[in-house]
Amino acid sequence: MLSIEDNAKYTEVGPGTPGGELHRRYWYPIAASIDVATNEIIPIRLLGEDLVLYRNGKGVLGLVQRRCPHRSLSLQYGWTEDEGIRCAYHGWAFNNEGQCFSQPYEDTAGEGTFKDRVKITAYPVQEVGGLAWTYLGPEPRPELPRWDILERPGVDRRIQWTVLPCNWLQIAENTLDPVHVEWLHVNQANVIATREGREPPMPAFKHLKVDFDIFEYGIYKRRLVEGDPEDSTDWTVGHPFIFPSTLAQENMFQWRVPIDDTHTLHFIYSVTPGSGVVTSDEFPYHDEEGQLLNEFVSQQDFVAWLGQGEVAPRNLELAGRSDRGILMFRQMLRDAIQAVEDGKDPIGVIRDPARNPIYILNEGASPHTTRLLGGGISLSGLPA
Ligand code: FES
Ligand SMILES: [Fe+2]
Repeated sequence: MLSIEDNAKYTEVGPGTPGGELHRRYWYPIAASIDVATNEIIPIRLLGEDLVLYRNGKGVLGLVQRRCPHRSLSLQYGWTEDEGIRCAYHGWAFNNEGQCFSQPYEDTAGEGTFKDRVKITAYPVQEVGGLAWTYLGPEPRPELPRWDILERPGVDRRIQWTVLPCNWLQIAENTLDPVHVEWLHVNQANVIATREGREPPMPAFKHLKVDFDIFEYGIYKRRLVEGDPEDSTDWTVGHPFIFPSTLAQENMFQWRVPIDDTHTLHFIYSVTPGSGVVTSDEFPYHDEEGQLLNEFVSQQDFVAWLGQGEVAPRNLELAGRSDRGILMFRQMLRDAIQAVEDGKDPIGVIRDPARNPIYILNEGASPHTTRLLGGGISLSGLPA
């Protein structure tokens, strides 16, 4: 249980808020690279800031504030040039660093120096692993953590993304919640199948023990379920949660990117043996009538996250033994916010380029993963 004040502190992501300042210490993916063609402009909202992502005429991505500083036309209605982006209203143009380099009428009628004093907010963009990444925090910027999955050779990459109308924290907390798998994914699917006259798709199982270990990037969660040996990798290794919001498995990562306090961009990034093909597709959470979908493992998770409300009311919750990982995570969140307030780097911020690329130990083809994969419930073709 959290106080109303702490719940706000941990969930708010806008500029100047404690949580927002914390998120501004990490690189976040914002789009699949292939979804931003040369000369394309896409409106983006990230950590409560309205921005445009574009690929200039030279093929380089830029990310700048959406509002033109002249008289506020959205730059999404402008066009790109070799050096940057130009506003459609009166032609002011800005390079990828946000510096104004052209003000047509001012340049004609004045001394041509006004533009030197006009700079808009611009953020760095890097393309790694088929994703465009950005960092909204103070300089010097940290290293972009290049998790091994991003650079693994000999694989195809599938990028699935969903904009979910809920706060990032309830999604992150789900990753520290092993027991939900037994109910949300297995028992629920079996109940539905039975009611529809189908064979239950998976053998039910029961969690006997769950445990959690803090490591340098976050928390490992481990589980032992009935019938599995004590030396199963679910129990001896588990799989990592990377602070502040990433689920990491051997061949699949999920990045949860706060758009604002009540929206999150959710990426499911998976690799399979292949020749370097990258695809990007939207993974729906509702049907044409707006009804929540509940067919795949990920959609069951979406229902759980959205069903807690836009921002889960943690002041009302009754945490039990199964929630120990979530409580550890909240302590980590508290410490990380404090670190930022003390002018220090929070957990997982990397400054040393030699740390990249980063390989983290994973449970691999554990009994749990194998059970879900073989259980007839697909995560849109992916593991849970
Ligand atoms: S509003 Fe953008 S140039 Fe005038
Ligand atoms: Fe789940």
